[in-house]
Amino acid sequence: MTPKTHNRYDFVVVSNRLPVDRIISPEGDASWQHSPGGLVTALEPVMQATDGAWVGWAGQPDLEFEPFVSDGIHIVPVALSADDIENYYEGFSNDTLWPLYHDVIAPPSYHREWWESYVAVNRRFADAAVAVAAEGAVVWVQDYQLQLVPKMLRTARPDLTIGFFNHIPFPPYGIYSQLPWRTQIIDGLLGADVIGFQRVADASNFQRAARRLLGSVTKSAYIEVQADDATGAASRRVLAKAFPISIDSSSFEEMARDPAIQARAREIREGLGNPKTVMLGVDRLDYTKGIGHRLKAFGELLAEGRIEVEDVTLVQVASPSRERVAAYMQLRDEIELTVGRINGDFGTMSHQAISYHHHGYPREEMVALYLAADVMLVTALRDGMNLVAKEYVASRFDDDGVLVLSEFAGASDELRRSLRINPHDIDGLKDAIVQAIEMPRVERQRRMRSMRKLVLANDVARWSAEFLTALRAAGDNNATDDDDDALGELEVTIERIRRR
Ligand code: G6P
Repeated sequence: MTPKTHNRYDFVVVSNRLPVDRIISPEGDASWQHSPGGLVTALEPVMQATDGAWVGWAGQPDLEFEPFVSDGIHIVPVALSADDIENYYEGFSNDTLWPLYHDVIAPPSYHREWWESYVAVNRRFADAAVAVAAEGAVVWVQDYQLQLVPKMLRTARPDLTIGFFNHIPFPPYGIYSQLPWRTQIIDGLLGADVIGFQRVADASNFQRAARRLLGSVTKSAYIEVQADDATGAASRRVLAKAFPISIDSSSFEEMARDPAIQARAREIREGLGNPKTVMLGVDRLDYTKGIGHRLKAFGELLAEGRIEVEDVTLVQVASPSRERVAAYMQLRDEIELTVGRINGDFGTMSHQAISYHHHGYPREEMVALYLAADVMLVTALRDGMNLVAKEYVASRFDDDGVLVLSEFAGASDELRRSLRINPHDIDGLKDAIVQAIEMPRVERQRRMRSMRKLVLANDVARWSAEFLTALRAAGDNNATDDDDDALGELEVTIERIRRR
């Protein structure tokens, strides 16, 4: 990583987390770690082709860094203090918005000081983006932590073309309307030219909220924003539409074809005592994921003798997440108590019912797990998309494996050949698990083949190209000559992404 002096960029991504994390070892040594998330893989080619910049937080308190270059991406760090982390990140983002946007599965907390911190930190991200965005640049803001940034950018810099993508669900109005700051958030988002959502239902929930709270007029996917006499801003049209996100599908397939990873998959099965069926769950340890519902169904199947512990093992990877938020601490206790009970009740000296792992793993190990798993369980109570479901499908180049998928995950709109379940219906979930275990190979192949075709075609490159094409079209509407430069460059980039 080389230091870099301040510069101005034609394409700027703004997200809460940077594509690199500052890691502090127990010995106190600091290093940068590339975080291999889906968004990073999606936007890496765009960033490299446009000489773009990424504005975000490095994941630790009080880190002040000058911009630098990492893997060809210009990194512009935004510092968060311990107070910002408590109020803006753990508080408003993850204890107000996260539960509210996920159908109040956990009760959201509303605190005025958290809101104030959210406004102040959104302002800091917006200021950082304004400082590095060239005249007429395209700025793409990501996710629920930064919903006020689009309007802040538009007010400061009417020359910018602004996109926003919401990675999580947008709730129905009856739930959304609980939020004391509901109008400010909609107003903040409407600063964008294009607002992307995971599902059609999310986009229409948002449109309804804009109609109800701001009296906005909507026409198909467009929302009319009135001219503002106070600021002199002209009237505009905002596109609010579904752009379902995806993964770098071919890289998962490539890894799965690696003999070393296949050997690791065999080793995993052997380590589990070579059961007839390996079932797998992979989630951040989050109450939206329905891990408890999955464990309940599994425990009942064992108790009723519909499955035997010698035949079926459930591997549950629960990666640590937001560990200082109370709801997450409580969830960990509940899940680990349940895992302990099931293992205590049904395990034998040679077979454990559940192989539970409170860790994150590198992508290679995940792909080996996907290959080792006959049945993948995705039982989310609410999920924007659920990329794990797509990763499992992309990895199964052997056209085998059964995906059990919650209808409350965005992925179920596309993966219609999965065994779709309602995780609240425990009997239905149990039947689906048994059906998955017993499914004949021809049917497994038929379903997997059709889902693979879809996931390979609709990959993350296509997602970003489609979003940016919509953004480019929106930008054209009010472009000046300088904007034309940035938008023209974007055009070339979109072509490159498409050809990749
Ligand atoms: C979800 C959100 C992301 C977030 C990720 C991990 O996928 O949509 O914005 O980065 O969870 O959560 P964290 O709080 O660790 O960033």
